[in-house]
Amino acid sequence: KNEQQPQKDVKDSQLEEFRVSDAGKPMTTNQGVRVSEDEHSLKAGERGPTLMEDFHFREKMTHFDHERIPERVVHARGFGVHGYFQVYKPMTQYTKAKFLQDPSMKTPVFVRFSTVAGSRGSADTVRDARGFATKFYTEDGNFDLVGNNIPVFFIQDALKFPDLVHAFKPEPHNEIPQASTAHDTHWDFVANNTESAHMVMWTMSDRAIPRSYRMMEGFGVHTFRLVNDKGEAHFVKFHWKPLLGVHSLVWDEAQKIAGKDPDFHRRDLWEAIEMGDYPEYEFGVQMIREDEEFNFDFDILDPTKIWPEELIPVQRIGKMTLNRNVDNVFAETEQAAFHVGNVVPGIDFSNDPLLQGRLFSYTDTQLIRLGGPNFHEIPINRPVAEIHNNQRDGYHRMTINRGQTSYHKNSLGNNDPRPVSEQEGGYTHYQEKVEGRKVRARSDSFKDHYTQAKLFWNSMSDVEKQHIIKAFRFEVGKVKSKSVQQQVVDMFGNVDLMLAEQIALGVGVNPPKAGEEASGATVAGGAETQASPALSQ
Ligand code: HEM
Repeated sequence: KNEQQPQKDVKDSQLEEFRVSDAGKPMTTNQGVRVSEDEHSLKAGERGPTLMEDFHFREKMTHFDHERIPERVVHARGFGVHGYFQVYKPMTQYTKAKFLQDPSMKTPVFVRFSTVAGSRGSADTVRDARGFATKFYTEDGNFDLVGNNIPVFFIQDALKFPDLVHAFKPEPHNEIPQASTAHDTHWDFVANNTESAHMVMWTMSDRAIPRSYRMMEGFGVHTFRLVNDKGEAHFVKFHWKPLLGVHSLVWDEAQKIAGKDPDFHRRDLWEAIEMGDYPEYEFGVQMIREDEEFNFDFDILDPTKIWPEELIPVQRIGKMTLNRNVDNVFAETEQAAFHVGNVVPGIDFSNDPLLQGRLFSYTDTQLIRLGGPNFHEIPINRPVAEIHNNQRDGYHRMTINRGQTSYHKNSLGNNDPRPVSEQEGGYTHYQEKVEGRKVRARSDSFKDHYTQAKLFWNSMSDVEKQHIIKAFRFEVGKVKSKSVQQQVVDMFGNVDLMLAEQIALGVGVNPPKAGEEASGATVAGGAETQASPALSQ
C-alpha cells in the first residue's frame, strides 16, 4: 500500500464533515437512544410473539426494507474514484474556465467508469461501450464531462434514445440476455437505424472489451464550445488519453474473466489506487474556429462523426490523476449524479441534437433515482463553490435557509441573493445567432451513415479486422431471426463487402445485396456461432 496518502483537497475536506466511524462506539437508534440488545427482539414471554413496541426492531427492519434505490436506467454498473486535475498551460486565449488557467491549481475530480447495458450486478468484461464520467469540482461550480470510451454515438437525435435503450437492454418478455449485444432486438434496431453503423464498428472492435479502466480513452463525443473572456468561441471536442496507453482483452479472455471474476475492472482500479499506482489521463481538446464550422464534409453537430485527428489534431492540455478510493460505494459512487448540462463559465453547448436532448434527461432521471430535487446536497454532488438561491424545500432538504424572504426581487429581507455580472463570474450563454423554421429535419450530411464507418474499418490492422469479423459472427450469430441477420449483413455491405460476406458466411445467410470493394482479412469457418449460450457475455 502506498504510504504517501494524498493531501486533503477542498472536496476531500468537505466530505470529511460527513464521514462517520462507528468502531467501538455505543450502538444507538437513529434517535440517539442507546441500544442494549441487538440479537433478540422483544417478546411477550420467552416463547411469545414479538411486541410492536420494540422500537429498535421496527426501526432497524424498516431502514433495511428501504435500503435499495433504483439503479441508473443506463450505465447501472459502475465504479467511482477520486482524483485531481491540473492544466499544463493557461488556456486563457480560448476559455475563461478557471480550472483551465493556472497550472499550479489542482481541481478535485470524481470519476465514475461504467458499462452501459448491464444491470448493477452484471459482469465487468462484457462487450459494451464504457462510460467515463468526470465531475470537476471547480471554484466556479461543478463541470461534468459525461463521456464514453468511444468517440461517436449510435444515434443522432435524443428522441431515439428510449428506443435505442429498449432495443439494447434485455428483451422484455424474458429479460434475456443480460449485458450482451447478442440478441434480436439489438441487431433489429441497428439494421433499421443505420446511423448506428459507425459506432457499431467500434463496439464490435477490441475497444468494447477494454483491458482496464486505466487503459481506456474517454471522449465527450459531442461538440461543445470554449468561450474566452472577450466572448469569442471555439467549437471543441474533449478527449481523455490514458498514459498507460489503450489496451484491450481478447474475446476469449473477456468471456472467461466474466465468469471467474465479474468484478475484474473495479478490482483492477481499486487495487491500483490502493497500491499507489495512480491512473493518469491527459486531457485533450480538438478545436475549430467558429468561422470554420462549414469547412468539413460532415456536420460538426453530428455525434455519429469524429473530427479526424489528421485534420484537427488533439492538443493535450492537462492531466488527471486518480488517487483515492471511495470510503463507501453507495454514498459516493451510487449517489453521484452527473449531468452533461453542468457547465461553468467558459464552457458552453453546441446545437448537437443528441446533446440538446441529454440536457433534459439527466436531471429528470435523478429526480426519481435520488428521491427529489435536493440531490445536489448529497455530499458527493455538492459543489465546493457556495450555493445561494431562492430554491426551497422538497424531500430531504438539508440546508436551513434563514430569513423571511425566498424570492427575487424583494425589499423586505436582507437575504436576497443577487444575480451577478459576467465580470463577477455570472454565467452568460454564448450569444449564438439562431433563426429558422420549426422543423424536424437535419442537414444532408446527417444522412451519410457509412463514410466514417468505412474510415474506421480501413484504419484497422488485419488482426483487428479478424477480431471485428469474429465479434460480428458471435453476436449476430445468436440472433434467432434470419431476416434480421440478413438485414445486418446487407447493412454492413455498405461498410465493406468482404466484412459483410464474412459475417454472412459465419451466421449462415446470403451474401450482402449492396456493397463495396472487398479488402483485408478473412476468418475461417463459422464456429463462433456455435458457442455455448453460457458464453454469450
Ligand atoms: C447515464 C441518458 C447519451 C454517457 C445516463 C443516464 C441517463 C442517460 C438517463 C442515467 C443517469 C443517472 O441515473 O444518473 C442519456 C440520453 C442520451 C445519452 C437521453 C442521448 C440522447 C449519452 C452519450 C454519452 C453518455 C452520447 C457519452 C458521451 C453517459 C454516462 C452515464 C450516463 C457516462 C453514466 C454516468 C454515471 O456514471 O453516473 N445517460 N444518455 N450518454 N450517460 Fe447518457
